[in-house]
Amino acid sequence: MVLGKFIIIMKKDKIAIIGLGYVGLPLARLFATKYSVVGFDINTDRIFELMSGVDSTLEVDNETLQSVLVDENSDEIGLFCTNKLSKIKDCNYYIITVPTPVDKNNRPILTPLIKASQTVGAVLKKGDIVIYESTVYPGATEEDCVPVLEKVSGLKFNKDFYAGYSPERINPGDKEHTVEKILKVTSGSTPEIGLKVNGLYKSVITAGTHFAPTIKVAEASKVIENAQRDINIAFVNELAKIFNLLDINTHDVLEAAGTKWNFLPFKPGLVGGHCIGVDPYYLAQKAQENGYHPEIILAGRRLNDGMGDYVASDIVKCMIKKNIPVNGSKVLILGITFKENCPDVRNTKAVDLIKALKDYGANITIHDPWADGDEVMHEYGLESLKSIPNEKFDAVVLTVAHKSFLELNLDLFRNPNSILYDVKGVLKQQVDGGL
Ligand SMILES: NC(=O)c1ccc[n+]([C@@H]2O[C@H](COP(=O)([O-])OP(=O)(O)OC[C@H]3O[C@@H](n4cnc5c(N)ncnc54)[C@H](O)[C@@H]3O)[C@@H](O)[C@H]2O)c1
Repeated sequence: MVLGKFIIIMKKDKIAIIGLGYVGLPLARLFATKYSVVGFDINTDRIFELMSGVDSTLEVDNETLQSVLVDENSDEIGLFCTNKLSKIKDCNYYIITVPTPVDKNNRPILTPLIKASQTVGAVLKKGDIVIYESTVYPGATEEDCVPVLEKVSGLKFNKDFYAGYSPERINPGDKEHTVEKILKVTSGSTPEIGLKVNGLYKSVITAGTHFAPTIKVAEASKVIENAQRDINIAFVNELAKIFNLLDINTHDVLEAAGTKWNFLPFKPGLVGGHCIGVDPYYLAQKAQENGYHPEIILAGRRLNDGMGDYVASDIVKCMIKKNIPVNGSKVLILGITFKENCPDVRNTKAVDLIKALKDYGANITIHDPWADGDEVMHEYGLESLKSIPNEKFDAVVLTVAHKSFLELNLDLFRNPNSILYDVKGVLKQQVDGGL
C-alpha cells in the first residue's frame, strides 16, 4: 500500500490453531486453503501423524490433509503442525480448540483451556486476537481465560490484545455437514474486533456467519444447542420406557407422530460423547453459581445417564422371558463408539450397558469395526474386536447404528432361542426388544 511517500507492507494474517483434534484439525485444514496456518498440539504423536499426512480421527481424509501440508513454518498458504511454542510466535490470530470435559462429579474441567491460554499468553503481542472455539458456559472466555492471557503476557485486554468466541458445530463422522458448510456464530470483545473475527470466518465458511452481539451470547448459544438436544432425547427416552411397559413400539409411535409438521424428529438411545452428554453440565454449573438450580436440564441429564442400566435390565428381562439363564450367558455387543460411523469412544455409554450386563453375570464379546481396540482397552479395560468370532451367542445387542452392521447376517451368531435387541431401532428383522 502506498501512503504519500511511505510504502507500508501489510503483514498477511497468520493463524495458529491450538489443539488439533476433531474440531481443530478440520478448521486448520480449511483456513490453510487461504492462509498461512500453524497447528499446535501438546500431543507429539498427533503432530507426527498429521505431518505424515494421516488423521486417525478420520475427519479429514489423507488426500485433503496432504494437499494443504507444508514442510516448514513460513508465511506461505498451507498448514504446518508443531508442538513447539516458538513456531506460533509470529501469528496474529490464535484460535483455541482444546477439550472441555467434566470431572467424575460432572463439574467443568477448565484445565486444558487455562493451559492453552497460558501457551498463547506466552507469545501474545500487541494487536493479536485470541478466539476460543471450545464449548464453555457463558462468561468463560472473558472471566476465566482472558485474565490468564493478561497475566502471562503482561498486556491489557481490549487495549493491547482482543478476544473472540466462535463455537464449533461439527458432527463427527458426518461427511455432509462439514465445517465450511455449517453456518458459524462469531463474536468479538469489541464491535470492531467482532467484525474482524466475523470477516475472518466469512472468508472460509461458505455457509456464512451469524455475528452475535457479545461473546457471552455466542458462548450461551452453543451450550444451549446441545442442552436442547439432550432434553429432547431425554423426552423420547422417557417415552421409550413408558411404551415398553405398554408393549407399544416406540419407533412406530414416533413415525406416526412425525407426520405432523411441527413434531421434532428425536430418537431414543444412549447419549454419550463429549458434547451432548457434557455441555449441559457447563450451563448447569454456571446457573448454580448464580443461585439458580436448573431442573429440566439436570432431569434430562439424569434420565439419559441412566439409559445404560435401563437397557441392560430390559435385555435381562427379554432373556428371562425366553428361559435363557443370564448368569454365564454369552452376549455379543455390536458397537462401542459413542455414535455411528465414527471411531470416537470418549464417554461412550455402551460401557454402562456392558458393565451392568457383566454385573448380571453375562460374558461379553464386543465387536466394533470403527473403534481402535488399543484405545478401548486403555480407556475402559475392555477388549473390542474388529471381527465377530465364529460363535453363537445367547443375546445379540446392537448399540450403535454403524452402516456395516445393517449388512450383517446376525442369524449366523445366534442360537435358535437367543434374543436380538436393537437399541437404535434400525434393524429390519424381528427383534425381541429395543428402545
Ligand atoms: N468433537 C465434536 O464433535 C465437537 C463439536 C463441537 C464442539 N466441540 C468442542 O470443541 C472442543 C474440542 O473438542 P475436540 O472433540 O476437538 O477435542 P479433541 O480431544 O478431539 O482434541 C483436542 C486436542 O487438543 C489437544 N490439547 C489439549 N490440551 C492442549 C493444550 N493445552 N495445548 C495444545 N493442545 C492441547 C489434545 O492433544 C487434542 O489433540 C471441546 O470444547 C468440545 O466440546 C467438539
